[in-house]
Amino acid sequence: RTVSQQVGLEMVMETDLWEMPRDQVIVKRDIKLGNGVYGEVFKGVIIGKAPIEEVYKTAFFAHQYDDCECAVKMLHSYAEANSRAEFLQEIGFMKELGFHPNIANMLGCITVSTPMCLLLEYAHYGDMARFLRERKDRVTTAPRLSSPAERAASNDDSVSIKDLLSFCWQISDGMEYLTELGFVHRDLAARNVLVDKAMNAMIGDFGLCRKADNVAFTSKAGRLPIKWMAIESLKSYQFSTKSDVWSFGVLMFEIFSMGMVPYIDVPQTEMLSYLCAGKRLPRPKNASLDIYDIMQSCWKERAADRPSFNSLRERLARHLEDAT
Ligand code: ADE
Repeated sequence: RTVSQQVGLEMVMETDLWEMPRDQVIVKRDIKLGNGVYGEVFKGVIIGKAPIEEVYKTAFFAHQYDDCECAVKMLHSYAEANSRAEFLQEIGFMKELGFHPNIANMLGCITVSTPMCLLLEYAHYGDMARFLRERKDRVTTAPRLSSPAERAASNDDSVSIKDLLSFCWQISDGMEYLTELGFVHRDLAARNVLVDKAMNAMIGDFGLCRKADNVAFTSKAGRLPIKWMAIESLKSYQFSTKSDVWSFGVLMFEIFSMGMVPYIDVPQTEMLSYLCAGKRLPRPKNASLDIYDIMQSCWKERAADRPSFNSLRERLARHLEDAT
């Protein structure tokens, strides 16, 4: 390798605004947030300015991420080459993603030394499936207090139907954004949505995410989320924005049932014949007929008959306006 090539490489690394020094991150190894396929997620703190502020240098970002909490997704230092490649691919996607309020945004990363780290916005309430299950006996029809501060002050830990609608709307907004950028998520499910302190829903886990033009999706069979998959994905591993819409319908079922496991009585191996027979998930008790109609529209057998995320978002917005 010549000197000039080496200098070139260093320049590339230096100009990657996302990279951060390891000593700027405190990893709280005693607070484990999750287990990834190729590593672990811990709670952490970023000292000083997070790289995201440099990357999106606008007034909006001015002081938002100083000394902030974060989630540190860490790759085992002994990870195999293909896990490492997938981890770097996920970081690459996060860089392309840009900022959206309903995505667990990347705050920075460490890839020039091991263990490699992906730092994400911290979500106080953790994953949505658990959030809902813990509150399944505390659903109210009254709209919740407006501000998170008011809520904290009154120790109000209930969830209103309007909150559930708002979660759905926020996720549809984030998915519309992802779709516009040409991404197919492929693993949209309540376990992969996070809830932050202000009750914002944030789409997380881009481990299975792909560019829509990259249709040659091959995946280790064991990792596929069978009960969230569209008919055509189960039949022939076809994934698209429309199969994400199917998963969104299942996610709406999870939300309105307060975290019920979909098709609890159906073995995974029987899912395809179950769906081909025209059977679908039932209406959760918190869902009105029209909300259930939205879910069902996501489960049309023909992908082309399913709505777009844009029309889902608009339809949900109308419900949100009506909900008092
Ligand atoms: N678990 C996985 N990612 C997380 C995050 N960003 N915040 C909180 N818990 C998480």
